[in-house]
Amino acid sequence: MLLRDAQGQPIAIRREDYAAPAYWIDTVDLTFDLDPAKTRVLNRMQMRRNPEVPVQPLRLDGDELNLARVLVNGQGASFRMEGEQLVIDGLPDAFELEIFTTCCPIKNTKLMGLFVSEDTFFTQCEAEGFRRITYFLDRPDVMAMYTVTLRAAKASYPVLLSNGNLVEQGELPEGRHFAKWVDPFKKPSYLFALVAGKLVAREQRIKARNGKEHLLQVYVRAGDLDKTEHAMNSLINSVLWDETRFGLPLDLDRFMIVATSDFNMGAMENKGLNIFNTKYVLANQATATDADYSNIESVVGHEYFHNWSGDRVTCRDWFQLSLKEGLTVFRDQEFSQDLCADASARAVKRIEDVRVLRTAQFPEDAGPMAHPVRPDSYIEISNFYTVTIYEKGAEVVRMMQTLVGRKGFEKGITLYFERHDGQAVTCDDFAQAIADANPESELARLLPQFKRWYSQAGTPRLAAHGVYDAQNRSYTLSVVQSCPPTPGQLTKEPFVIPLNIGLLDASGRELPMQLEGESDVTRGTRTLVLSRAGEQITFVGLDAEPVPSILRGFSAPVILDFEYTDAQLLTLLANDPDPFNRWEAGQRLGLRAALQGIAALATDTTPVLNDAYIDAMRSVLRNPQLDAAFKELVLTLPSETYIAEQLDVVDPQRVHLVREAMRAQLATALFADWQWAYEENHDTGAYSPDPTSSGRRALAGMALNFLCLAARTSGDVVWPGKTLQRFKDAGNMTDRFNALNALVSSGNTLAAQALARFHAIFKDEALVIDKWFSLQAGASDRGGDILPLVKQLMKHPDFSLKNPNRARSVIFSYCSANPGAFHRPDAAGYVFWSERVIELDAINPQVAARLARALDRWSKLAEPYRSAAREAIARVAAKPDLSKDTHEVVTRALA
Ligand code: ARG
Ligand code: ZN
Repeated sequence: MLLRDAQGQPIAIRREDYAAPAYWIDTVDLTFDLDPAKTRVLNRMQMRRNPEVPVQPLRLDGDELNLARVLVNGQGASFRMEGEQLVIDGLPDAFELEIFTTCCPIKNTKLMGLFVSEDTFFTQCEAEGFRRITYFLDRPDVMAMYTVTLRAAKASYPVLLSNGNLVEQGELPEGRHFAKWVDPFKKPSYLFALVAGKLVAREQRIKARNGKEHLLQVYVRAGDLDKTEHAMNSLINSVLWDETRFGLPLDLDRFMIVATSDFNMGAMENKGLNIFNTKYVLANQATATDADYSNIESVVGHEYFHNWSGDRVTCRDWFQLSLKEGLTVFRDQEFSQDLCADASARAVKRIEDVRVLRTAQFPEDAGPMAHPVRPDSYIEISNFYTVTIYEKGAEVVRMMQTLVGRKGFEKGITLYFERHDGQAVTCDDFAQAIADANPESELARLLPQFKRWYSQAGTPRLAAHGVYDAQNRSYTLSVVQSCPPTPGQLTKEPFVIPLNIGLLDASGRELPMQLEGESDVTRGTRTLVLSRAGEQITFVGLDAEPVPSILRGFSAPVILDFEYTDAQLLTLLANDPDPFNRWEAGQRLGLRAALQGIAALATDTTPVLNDAYIDAMRSVLRNPQLDAAFKELVLTLPSETYIAEQLDVVDPQRVHLVREAMRAQLATALFADWQWAYEENHDTGAYSPDPTSSGRRALAGMALNFLCLAARTSGDVVWPGKTLQRFKDAGNMTDRFNALNALVSSGNTLAAQALARFHAIFKDEALVIDKWFSLQAGASDRGGDILPLVKQLMKHPDFSLKNPNRARSVIFSYCSANPGAFHRPDAAGYVFWSERVIELDAINPQVAARLARALDRWSKLAEPYRSAAREAIARVAAKPDLSKDTHEVVTRALA
């Protein structure tokens, strides 16, 4: 398979071209002589021909390897190179293949394959990094048993780790030593890992429910051991949860997590040896925020849950990526919810997850990179580790659970693992197992149609309309579904949509529900299953027009249009027993105001919010029945990105201006309430990252933010002064960072000294310095001041383009997370972007391609932004020798 055509342009890989491998690899015996400049890899494989496939040459993948020797059954063999592939003809049906290569980890700035980070060796093999370590059938359906021997200088690399169990270790001449590891499970190459360096571990022995003992280890650099307790607790909770909820035990004697500060992604689920970005491991109260604590819990859970959903049962090919990622995101979301003490905290988690989906995935699904949850083609698979594969994929799994019920879903999961343990399978296999375990369910009845969620891209839209018939005391809801065209898919067929619904009366009380033609009356939420382009649902026995609460809990990843009156939304906001829709009503009101302000060409002094909205927000803030975390979510206005998505033509400056005007109005109109909220919530006692106290810190932080913002117009110096004091005295990073943020985001003159002090305190804490950079690059723009600041930050001695976390903290915080500062009328933001994409592409294509996506939505922009953005993308696309990664993103953007 050649990856470039005759013109040297990358070729797309297509799902329909899948063919089983021509050879199998039964065992792999790897020996590494680790050296940063020249690592030697001896790879001995027992292979056999796949009898189900016509006889053909063996083609092994490789990438940037130096080949020294090839032996077949111990004899020198003839081979040829076709591009980067090693091709061998005339092989017997079964044979031993021995390949000896070298590579250069120290020069590996792509951070794929074997690389060095802070004098320690790490690997990253998913999706196609193993071919940068040795020649191999580097595809997930080739599963083998691995034995790995690591040899290295003992003084520099005292710890030698790989997958599975340590079976032997000892000394070698010249100060070297070795360790031999055997993985008891067969696995695809993307799950291979090794680590070698100076590391220390927090250890914990646990006993599983079946009485089996396991050793859990979290490896970090010596100075970081005091930041590993939370990751260890999260791991223990993960092991217990998967056993309890799904009956899935830990299948290894030893389970290791290792942290590295140079990593392209969040973390990686290598069998028994998870490798993590330090960002998702290290935390103590002085350096990590509540959000960091909760992300660590999710990511530790996510990687651990992959041990079953990904490792024991893996993907047949990379088009099936969501088989493991969608399912595992769903599992980590459920894990975090199940750890919550009450329904309110669960709802907060659900709202946060939906917010990610709507602000990141919906735009992806409407833009040039839109792709189905199971894509049909790709040029570079690394570009498809997307919010669609992960978060929309998780929503698809969640809809299955909604359709078969929680118990039914657990039965489905059990059947899936019984059927497919040890196999590489497809999304179809998963859906089939869930349906087969629930033969009477709506999922089983509608399975082929339900699977359109895998094949059709784009966010479906539901246009709902309600009519009350006083004569018949009935209420008819008509719902029409549609889905816009996406690249390569001009028309769409109807989806199966589980629609959770409730009805309230005008005073906000939940009404009993009775569907026309049904005799039973139900209370609370009811799940309707839509499957046609248009349907009508009639509720009977209603004395007055109800207020419908539609799409409760966000039961499907769709956009719901319903012409709610302001009064209806205020009723829902004040009363809906479904916390998700209660929050959603507030978001709809805020969005409505923003869109009106944008249409009316509001200036920064025009009031955008009406009294009813402000009063409703005050009631939420002061409501003794509501948790602080929930209040903080309700009082957060829809983001600029989310507002922009609702417009056909986007003037980002106007969106920014209007949202800032709304914030200023909330600050001033609720001034006394913010003071009260701060006083009520700012003291959370001894630090604990639990949902209740972190919710109170979040609300206190929000209050400070608004108080400092109000001070901007009133000239008040008391609250900024208090905020600076709070910053100095804070007993934890959350409070400290929130205070700093309040000063920075309100543009207060005290911000400068706080920033300087913050840097001085934390100069040796890389993850905190990332926050310092990202806060500044992401700050609210005032007259174009952020871009010059960003350029200055890039000259700071602590800045480095090679470290992905640091590059993200400055460049991504500006280009991808600060629309008001990035979209400049003078196009300087776009010029900056194109220069950084090109610069990064030469170092690390994965990171560059991610940055390239910051202009995904260029075609929606108003002039002059639109033309300038297009020109910047074209400039990147015109660069010769672009990586496949960046090439794919920019050519799709221009298509
Ligand atoms: N499987 C990893 C995880 O989600 C992420 C790997 C990302 N790989 C990549 N090439 N971006 O848990
Ligand atoms: Zn994952």
